[in-house]
Amino acid sequence: MADNPRAKVAVLVSGTGTNMAALLYASRLPGAAYEIVLVASNDPEAGALALARAESIPTFALSHRGMTRADHDAAMDAAIRYAGATHVALAGYMRILGDEMARKWEGWMLNIHPSLLPLYPGLDTHSRAIAAGDTHGGASVHLVIPELDAGEVLGQVRVAIGADDTPDTLARRVKIAEHQLYPRVLSEYVSRGYDADYLLERVAALALALPGTERTTSHGSPAFKLAGKSGKFFAHFSDRHHGVPHIAVLAKTSGQEELAQLCERDPATFYKPAYYGASGWVGIVLNRADVDWSQVEYWLERSWRSVAPKRLAATQPGREPEAY
Ligand code: GAR
Repeated sequence: MADNPRAKVAVLVSGTGTNMAALLYASRLPGAAYEIVLVASNDPEAGALALARAESIPTFALSHRGMTRADHDAAMDAAIRYAGATHVALAGYMRILGDEMARKWEGWMLNIHPSLLPLYPGLDTHSRAIAAGDTHGGASVHLVIPELDAGEVLGQVRVAIGADDTPDTLARRVKIAEHQLYPRVLSEYVSRGYDADYLLERVAALALALPGTERTTSHGSPAFKLAGKSGKFFAHFSDRHHGVPHIAVLAKTSGQEELAQLCERDPATFYKPAYYGASGWVGIVLNRADVDWSQVEYWLERSWRSVAPKRLAATQPGREPEAY
């Protein structure tokens, strides 16, 4: 893990920032998978900003008062991008994000919430858990989607509720639990883009969604082909083969000319793989911070189309080539 580039994370806060501090100090341990490049707040007085400044982390503060939600989101978005962040971690950011902002960062933005989601989205989670007679409260880290506190849960920790607990005493223990949970889940999440098993499963999901396909192996590596004995291959998965550092999916181009153009235009994404390159296959690098999965999907579909029988290809609407 330590060899992979560290993800660049912007942390959004509104309050004291104890979760931000937990994320920050975890990021300073050896081998950390991410670094914090910005702490941003909708409250210029937030304690979290003072702590970030003391720790020499760039900060950005802009009160939302008098601004539309969309304008405020856009200003935060600009600051996040200016800082070069690849991921956003909401840590007690008490502004609800507009749909557009949530969609823009979908898959790259996480939030911590003080309940065992899907229980108790929204506010007053601890008093609601106590009032319901729950034996446990807890915390969840989840992906952010436009619907409030409803994205995929990536990790949870349970915290027992004692007979004497008040919302405040429970909140204190849940915070301690949050501080363990958030750095761990964020680290795992940003690291999975470098994990061959995870990348293979994502490729497989896209490849097997194409009609009439099956998974197999070719020369010991995972590969995808048209189903049946003589079905042709349309994708190979390559995990750092032949001395290259890439985990990649290989797809068919129209030939050497296109292959050379792709490699020249975007050498961070495309490369000419050993052996397969000679027959016009291109390597699409997957172990990097900013994989465009719709581009991968486009190439898998194109490669599949180039080997699929006409009647099968006709079942699938073609996609715009755009800049892929
Ligand atoms: C945390 O308990 C976090 O789960 C909660 O705000 C607190 C922030 O504390 N977030 C939410 O309620 C989001 N809906 P902190 O500023 O000390 O990290």
